[in-house]
Formats: sequence, C-alpha cells, structure tokens
Amino acid sequence: MIDVLLGLQWGDEGKGKIVDYLAGKYDVIARFQGGPNAGHTLYVDGKKVVLRTIPSGVFHTHCLNLIGNGVVIDPGSLKGEIEQLIPLVPDVLDRLFIAHKAHLILPTHRALDAASEAAKGEDKIGSTLKGIGPAYMDKTGRNGLRIGDIMGKDFRKKYDKLTQKHVEILKQYGPKIDWQEWETPFFEAIDYLRSLQIVNAEYWLDTKLKDGKRILAEGAQGSMLDIDYGTYPFVTSSNTIAAGVCNGLGVAPSTIGEVYGITKAYCTRVGSGPFPTELDDETGEELRRIGNEFGAVTGRSRRCGWIDLVALKYTVMLSGVTKLIITKADVLDSFSPVKAAIAYLADGKETKELPYDLCDVDIAPVYQEFAGWDKPISTCTTYEEAPQIFKDYCRFVENYLETKIAYISNGTGREQLLIIS
Ligand code: GDP
Ligand code: IMO
Ligand code: MG
Repeated sequence: MIDVLLGLQWGDEGKGKIVDYLAGKYDVIARFQGGPNAGHTLYVDGKKVVLRTIPSGVFHTHCLNLIGNGVVIDPGSLKGEIEQLIPLVPDVLDRLFIAHKAHLILPTHRALDAASEAAKGEDKIGSTLKGIGPAYMDKTGRNGLRIGDIMGKDFRKKYDKLTQKHVEILKQYGPKIDWQEWETPFFEAIDYLRSLQIVNAEYWLDTKLKDGKRILAEGAQGSMLDIDYGTYPFVTSSNTIAAGVCNGLGVAPSTIGEVYGITKAYCTRVGSGPFPTELDDETGEELRRIGNEFGAVTGRSRRCGWIDLVALKYTVMLSGVTKLIITKADVLDSFSPVKAAIAYLADGKETKELPYDLCDVDIAPVYQEFAGWDKPISTCTTYEEAPQIFKDYCRFVENYLETKIAYISNGTGREQLLIIS
C-alpha cells in the first residue's frame, strides 16, 4: 500500500519534520508534485536542513527516495541540494531515484515566472519565482521537456526550440531579465543529472508494491494551494490533494492506504490571496515571532491567524484524510484565549461551506474560544501529560473534522512528537 502525507492548509504545516519521523516505518518516500517552491525543514542531530525537491526520507539509511513524475525539477537547484546533502548523507545518490517523466524547469521558465508576476502588479500571486507555473503550463500545453529527454542526442535542439518560444513571449513583457546567465549552470547541472538513477517510476513503484515494500507519498504545498480546489488564482500549479498521488506517481487509487493530513494548531499563509482567519494585529505578530513564521525558501514573513476548521473540514473531505497530525502545538502555549473558526459569516450569512470565490466575498469567521492551557505543551513527552484544556481542544477539533488525531508535534526536533494512535 501507499500511504500519503499532505498539508491541509496553505503549506508549511511541518510536512518535512513529520515525513522525516515517519520515514522510520517506510521503505520508500516518494514526492508526487510541486518542485523547488517547496521548503521542507528537518532538524537532524540538531542541524537544520531545508529540502526542496528531494524527499524527506533521505536521512534514513534504509529509505529509498523517489522524485516522481508529477514533480517539476530545476536541475541547478537539485544539484545544489544534493551537494549540500553529500557531507551529511554520503550515500544519498545510491538511494535517490528520479522519474523519467518528471518535467524540467528551464531558465526561461524562471524568467517567465518573474515577468508574469511583475506584470500582475498588485494582483500578483506571491509566487516563489522558481518557474513552477510556466513549467506546468508547458507540461499541460504539451511543449515541456522531461528528465528522460536529457538522455537523447537532440536535447539541445529541443531546448533551443522551446526557449525560442519563451523569448518571444518574454518580449511582450516589460523589464528585461538576464536569464542567459542561468544557462551555463543549467547545462552543467543537466550533465550532472545524466549520471543519476533515472527510472521508469511507474514500473519501479509497481515492483516495490509487489515486493510488499511500504511506501509513503510526500506532498508539497498544501490543499488550499491546490490548482483545482484551492483559493484560485492564488494557488500553485499542481494537485496537492490526495488525488495528485495517482497521477503524480502513476499508481492506482486502490493502492492508497492511510492519508495523513497535517495542520498547524493555528494557520499561516505566505504570498497573496484570501485568508479568512488572518490576524493583522499584535496576536498575529506574536504567532509569527513565537512560531518563527518566515518562509523556508524565500525568507518572507508568513501571514498568521487562528486555525480555520471550515477550511480544514473541506480539505479533509477532498483527500479522505484518515489520520490528522497537529503541529506547532507548543507555539500556542502562551496564548489565552486560543480560537478556532467554526463557521463563516459570508456576506452576512452563516455558512460552514467554503464559498466559491473567497476573494470576492466579505468573510467574517465565527470563533469558538478555548482558555489557554495552564501548563506548557512544549515540555510534555507523552499525550497523557498534556494539559486537560489542550486535550479538550484536540477533542473538539477531532469531533468537528470527524477524524482522529494520530500525532501532535510540540517542537522542531524529530522526537518532539506526542503519539496518540
Ligand atoms: P513544510 O513545508 O510543511 O515541511 O514546513 P516548513 O519546514 O516550511 O515550515 C515548518 C516550520 O515549523 C519549520 O521551521 C519547522 O522546523 C517548524 N516546526 C515543525 N513542527 C514544529 C513544532 O511542532 N513546533 C515548532 N515550534 N516548530 C515546528
Ligand atoms: P511547502 O511544500 C507555502 C505559495 C507561494 C504563492 C503560491 C504560488 O514548503 O509547504 P508558486 O511558487 O508555486 O508559483 O507559488 O503558492 N507556495 C507555498 N507556500 N509553502 C509552500 O511549499 C509553497 N509553495 C508555493 O507563496 O503564494
Ligand atoms: Mg515549507
């Protein structure tokens, strides 16, 4: 079976930390979508590592790591990530596999991302500018280049043809972007990628499944950034929900087992777009400071607010989440009251459904308040030790979402995890 782990909010829920913990129980960790827009933070032996494209199982020596078909790969970024890992994980390349069908991010995709965002002005998405949108556009537009293509003799010809197309589009945008200087490192990285283990990932995974291997599919971004079901157009360009696992890895729906959905005990968002429970005040500022809410990829401040159970109920539904994981519970230690949105007043009418267009509706969250916990959760080593008020809060979240909590994370370290089931 393939278990799935994905974010239920707008990303940065702590997926990296949890996958790193869960990897102990799996033989293969497979990324199924996204690209270097992701920043998954792990603390290994007290050292901070941020993974972008490489799956978060890499620190477990028994774990194989697959970059699946649904991922878009920036060769330079991947090469840099591998080089950063080699001193820490000398056998990283022996355990890293890349799907033939994963698409490439070209230098001109990054230029197009930057030009498109600049042209949007105030309406900009707040993209990480890693070329994600343009690379997926070429994929669905049937123009893209794939990892498998780098092995062909005519790769350069295909590259030049696509780049020429991009140059024509770039002419229509304003400021000139010197993407040519990104070409030399790009081609050096392409040479490097040729030496890696590039596989027919669908067959590779099928064999693993038949051999009874335990596989965990690692999501990037979060469900509210899903291209179809997120807060469009302020989303990323891939399917971040559980459905993305089947097309991102080439596996059948019947192979999917548990679906772990991760949420912070509060909520954050980086980039533009609607965020009903956002706190544009001192409490929001405190959440950002205590939660250290600054982007792992871009260093941008993350917008902060209370947990939004309306949005979570929606994303739990979309992916059929079977087990919940709550992270950053420790961050709320000093807050009283703690709030959770249980409904919206949308254009004055109470609803528990996400409106079609969160951008165009005047939304006021309806909150349930909880007294702050009377002792810190950060120092607890078991769930039993956790303060009763915190347990009541967890019970409320479980009942609202009709899904059981399996783990609560109460710190950045791998072992700072309270196991419930
Ligand atoms: P990801 O993209 O979902 O992997 O999450 P990020 O790594 O971008 O952001 C999560 C941040 O929260 C990282 O800095 C983690 O080290 C940190 N983190 C994860 N879990 C916890 C937790 O339980 N408590 C605290 N205080 N920090 C955590
Ligand atoms: P992880 O995997 C948080 C956001 C960007 C922007 C929008 C589109 O670390 O949770 P893109 O670069 O995809 O064109 O950006 O999506 N975004 C993320 N926000 N965590 C991420 O990844 C994100 N990846 C993209 O900020 O609003
Ligand atoms: Mg992140």
